[in-house]
Amino acid sequence: MPFYVRLGDIPRKRHIVFRDNGRLLTEEVMGLEGFTGNESILYHLQSPCRVKELGEFVPIEHEEWVPEAHAHRHLATYGVEPSGDEITGRRVLMWNDDVEIALCRPSQSMDYFFRNGEHDEVVFVHEGSGTLETTFGNLPYRDGDYIVIPRGTTYRFVPEGEQRHLVFESPGLITIPRRYRNEYGQLLEGAPYSNRDIHPPTELQTIRDDGEHVVKVRVRDGYQTYILDYHPFDVVGWDGYLFPWTFSVHDFEPITGRIHQPPPSHQTFQGQNFVICSFCPRKLDFDPLAIPIPYVHSNVNSEEMIYYVSGNFSSRKAVDVGSVTLHPSGIPHGPHPGLAEKSIGLTETHELAVMCDTFHPLRLTTFARDLDDGTYAYSWYEEPASGSPDEDPAGVTSHL
Ligand SMILES: [Fe+2]
Repeated sequence: MPFYVRLGDIPRKRHIVFRDNGRLLTEEVMGLEGFTGNESILYHLQSPCRVKELGEFVPIEHEEWVPEAHAHRHLATYGVEPSGDEITGRRVLMWNDDVEIALCRPSQSMDYFFRNGEHDEVVFVHEGSGTLETTFGNLPYRDGDYIVIPRGTTYRFVPEGEQRHLVFESPGLITIPRRYRNEYGQLLEGAPYSNRDIHPPTELQTIRDDGEHVVKVRVRDGYQTYILDYHPFDVVGWDGYLFPWTFSVHDFEPITGRIHQPPPSHQTFQGQNFVICSFCPRKLDFDPLAIPIPYVHSNVNSEEMIYYVSGNFSSRKAVDVGSVTLHPSGIPHGPHPGLAEKSIGLTETHELAVMCDTFHPLRLTTFARDLDDGTYAYSWYEEPASGSPDEDPAGVTSHL
């Protein structure tokens, strides 16, 4: 995305005759923001406009849960039963006009191709590996990867092993934060990851198959099915700046300081009215008087969703692997009682978590309701003269 990639065969100039065994290929310019944003040019055996049959349109409907009380929430997701495939198995936990956040534990393979027509996607792979097969070529992935899929990319998951995904879909563009890039798009020395950490498709497969293939496209709050009489991976070559890519959370280089660094230092992606951050194992603040865990903070105009991937927080009463906490706007949140004191002198944390901060309120689904523990809002409350800091051993969960 921030650099030029070329796979397969392309002509020496754009918009000129280019043939495959005498057949004139169809050139597709796939670009963002009205020919002013990033684009790639793909050369197809068939016109991508060609459709044999229009299939069904299935609306996407969120079942909303409006809680009786406005409060911090903890959702325990690890035990969710697998269902559906990598697309139909996406179960939305929360959403607003800018982003949808879903959990996916597929139990079956995709027997069709998918294209998100109106949303950029970031799929965080908590568990599992495999290949994302796309029109741009094959994109291998493994646990810890963020798979970044620009809208308009036709793909299917070919998984290896069980999968556990956290999925972000956004009608706005999802990009690398602007402050990490120079004016030419190259990642800066001070950025927490570099161009070498970004992995584009490795191998282009050109499939010459005139059988029937199903493509489902997410558009207009639903899934539209199209029947093609050719394989959608019919690209003989492409080049440009727009393509799916992976970035491993394990390649994120944490930025630490003598005293506490604020959440933007963990930022990984920029969305429209939201950010995605990675909390990675790191050395903690090194001033002798530093309090390594955060101050209490009021999310005056943002909501904070954190997904816990791995680390020492498993000893925490409220939070475990696969937990999701939601700290909504309007009320403050921060470390649990006793943890500021307990954290003094800590030198490192082994936590791994993914956070999404949105600048507008998130709505919850009934799926989230079913996972809500119902008690998290009270976890900052202590009866007078009861409880002691030592009762809560989660001093290493440094970002609450
Ligand atoms: Fe926070």
